[in-house]
Amino acid sequence: MTPSTTQLPELDLDPYSPEFLADPYPYYAQLRDAGPVVWLTRYEHYVVARHAETKAVLDDWETFGSTRGFGLHDPEREPPLLDSPEYEPLARVPHMNTEAIRGLLDAVRPDPPEHDPIRRLFMRMLAPGLIRRSREQIVGAAQALVEKLVARGSFDAAAELADAFVLGVIGDLVGLPEQGREHIIAYGNMAMNTSGPRNEVYLESIEHAVDAVAWVDQVCTRDSLSPGPIGQLIFDAVDAGEIEEDMGNAFVRVFPTAAVDTTSSTITNAIYNLAVNPDQWALLRDDPSLARRAFQETMRFTQAIHPLYRTTTRDGELAGSELAAGIKMALFLGSANRDPRVFEDPDRFEIRRDATPQLGFGSGIHSCAGQTLARLEGEAVLTALSRRVARLELDGEPTPRRHNTLHTWAHLPVKVTGDAR
Ligand code: HEM
Repeated sequence: MTPSTTQLPELDLDPYSPEFLADPYPYYAQLRDAGPVVWLTRYEHYVVARHAETKAVLDDWETFGSTRGFGLHDPEREPPLLDSPEYEPLARVPHMNTEAIRGLLDAVRPDPPEHDPIRRLFMRMLAPGLIRRSREQIVGAAQALVEKLVARGSFDAAAELADAFVLGVIGDLVGLPEQGREHIIAYGNMAMNTSGPRNEVYLESIEHAVDAVAWVDQVCTRDSLSPGPIGQLIFDAVDAGEIEEDMGNAFVRVFPTAAVDTTSSTITNAIYNLAVNPDQWALLRDDPSLARRAFQETMRFTQAIHPLYRTTTRDGELAGSELAAGIKMALFLGSANRDPRVFEDPDRFEIRRDATPQLGFGSGIHSCAGQTLARLEGEAVLTALSRRVARLELDGEPTPRRHNTLHTWAHLPVKVTGDAR
């Protein structure tokens, strides 16, 4: 029974079931059709799956807060994640900064006023001007990697292209040591999996991350970083007294968590979409300046992030539905991005469309601070591919990534032929 005076439509769906995770789109349609706000009986929280209401929620942080986490876990109702028996493997990691990891796992994120100085620092670190200065280096790295892989004729576009490229870009910008960067994959995998329920996928991600947590813990400090523009800005802010040293270390840690998996998953999804839509690949190959649009359309068509959560901070109303305070609300950006109320023929991947209203980077005060960088990375890879490859095809069945939060492929074998030049 929903905790509100108006009766909301109720659905007994499990967004974390293997069927839902494998192909969320029919379920998204069911959620959108059920109403602007739906009560999910299994997890006892609200769901918003249409575009207008998703944007309205994201833009109203005062009613739909983030301080109780942007994951399913509710730190006010459940014990801290780090105190649960599943985290026992992590407790054995020597020299682990338990407080830092606690903040990460419980995914508690402030709203204003605490959020304001944090946001300002993120915007300075990821300012378009600063990212533009790294443009040449990022584009060059994409060209070099694409050149090497295309020469082989077939490769894994997820692991060998998207993951490897993004690890290199973020590693260099932050100044992370080259040796061991692959740990970031397991680390980010765990961090994002904790947004879901304590299921098998989540437990597996923890077990695989024990060494990665130790590595990240060691390298995300001032003394371990090599020169990199973002790392430099973080510790300049510490030296200027804007933030404490511990906070500086925590800022460094955001990059392996927020910047890698999200972007590499979207690049992987873009390559998949282009490989299975040869007409769209032909458009890009013939006009590489469409690369930015192709990335944007991928954000819309195959949003990499599954649900995102808010918690109602007060009794309120949304699209005629009364809502009670203190209840989690799941937002499905991937569903909002396929809402036929906003996008014409939403189930078609069309790189020439103007996908601007897509919400894949969120909206409002928490909207993605790294989107300029992510777009540049996507554009760099897709441009490099379109300039070198005439034909792009799957080279066998891709392997879906088993993940509570990310919707993408673990392995994406592709075959490339011809030279587009
Ligand atoms: C295609 C890749 C990416 C996607 C799909 C993505 C998606 C998102 C989304 C949906 C949010 C909003 C979360 C919320 O409202 O709860 C967000 C926030 C954020 N993202 Fe990204 N992101 C991407 C890449 C990046 C990169 C490359 C960075 C850093 C270099 C980054 C850093 C952040 C940060 C710091 C926030 C939190 C902002 C705040 O709370 O003020 N993201 N991202």
